[in-house]
Amino acid sequence: MVQRYDWKEKRVVVAGGTSGLGLHLVLAAAAQGARIVILGRDRERLEQACQKAKAAGAQEAIGFSIDLRTISLPCAQLSDSLGDDVRLQSFLETNQVDLLINAVGRSDRGPISSVSAADLRSLLEDNLVCTWQSICLFKHSLLRARGTIVNIGSLAGLVSAPNLGGYNAAKSALTAMSRQLRLEWKQDKVHVMLVCTGPIAREDSGRRYEQLAKDRGLEIAHANVPGGAAKLKLLEPVGLANRILHDASTKRCEVVIPAKAKWLAAITAVWPALGDWILVKFLKR
Ligand SMILES: NC(=O)c1ccc[n+]([C@@H]2O[C@H](COP(=O)([O-])OP(=O)(O)OC[C@H]3O[C@@H](n4cnc5c(N)ncnc54)[C@H](OP(=O)(O)O)[C@@H]3O)[C@@H](O)[C@H]2O)c1
Repeated sequence: MVQRYDWKEKRVVVAGGTSGLGLHLVLAAAAQGARIVILGRDRERLEQACQKAKAAGAQEAIGFSIDLRTISLPCAQLSDSLGDDVRLQSFLETNQVDLLINAVGRSDRGPISSVSAADLRSLLEDNLVCTWQSICLFKHSLLRARGTIVNIGSLAGLVSAPNLGGYNAAKSALTAMSRQLRLEWKQDKVHVMLVCTGPIAREDSGRRYEQLAKDRGLEIAHANVPGGAAKLKLLEPVGLANRILHDASTKRCEVVIPAKAKWLAAITAVWPALGDWILVKFLKR
């Protein structure tokens, strides 16, 4: 694969950059020589991710320990409500951000009727509110750079598969927010790209949601299949991260991987019964 340098010397912030796809995006941007900022809650993992980013070639790598669920910040202005994280406050006041990637989020398992109101709220917090908070936090830094936002969504935000608990709802809300923001910030030259990806290969693929599925009375065989039993090949995360960075540099609006899922979304929009039939046919059971 040809090494690209679309983000060389650019400031790239990855919210949720200490693990999974977020960490792969950090390393891919680092290999291009970007100046990396990583957000996550766990300090030790932040430290490790920064070290890995430097080793991969980042011009610099700094981490901020922050819980994007609970930080309180008015969208339009900076405030003192960042608590004692003075470093972050001064970063926000003085720096510009060329690329903000929002990779905080998590999936779910079980029929939607088995999801409690508290669980649904919690999923919306992780998949929607955390991204919104991150965007609010970096708004001025992005405006200064006329930067790009990448929101990591999911195929579940385009097509609602059964037994993904509240994940379809949470990622659909993220899809809607990303599209609205793209229209609203166009005049300010801040671009918004939405990534709707299928299941990604990782060490714990197939085991991650076992307990949750058990608790919700879902047969384990269904729950263990990544992507909630959709017949999809697991995506290789290094290639995926490089592709996302490149697509962000060319200011694409939406990236759907695998692309064939776009057709299912389009068919479901115009002929829902046919969309449902195709979806059920493509589930592994
Ligand atoms: N994995 C897949 O197969 C797949 C498929 C399609 C889409 N996606 C989407 O891709 C994104 C990444 O998924 P993943 O499975 O790779 O994630 P992951 O490994 O679980 O990593 C989540 C990251 O977000 C951080 N984080 C979580 N809650 C946070 C909070 N409240 N404030 C700040 N940071 C927080 C975590 O660090 P701390 O815990 O230290 O805070 C970690 O860095 C998600 O949006 C997911 O929905 C994943």
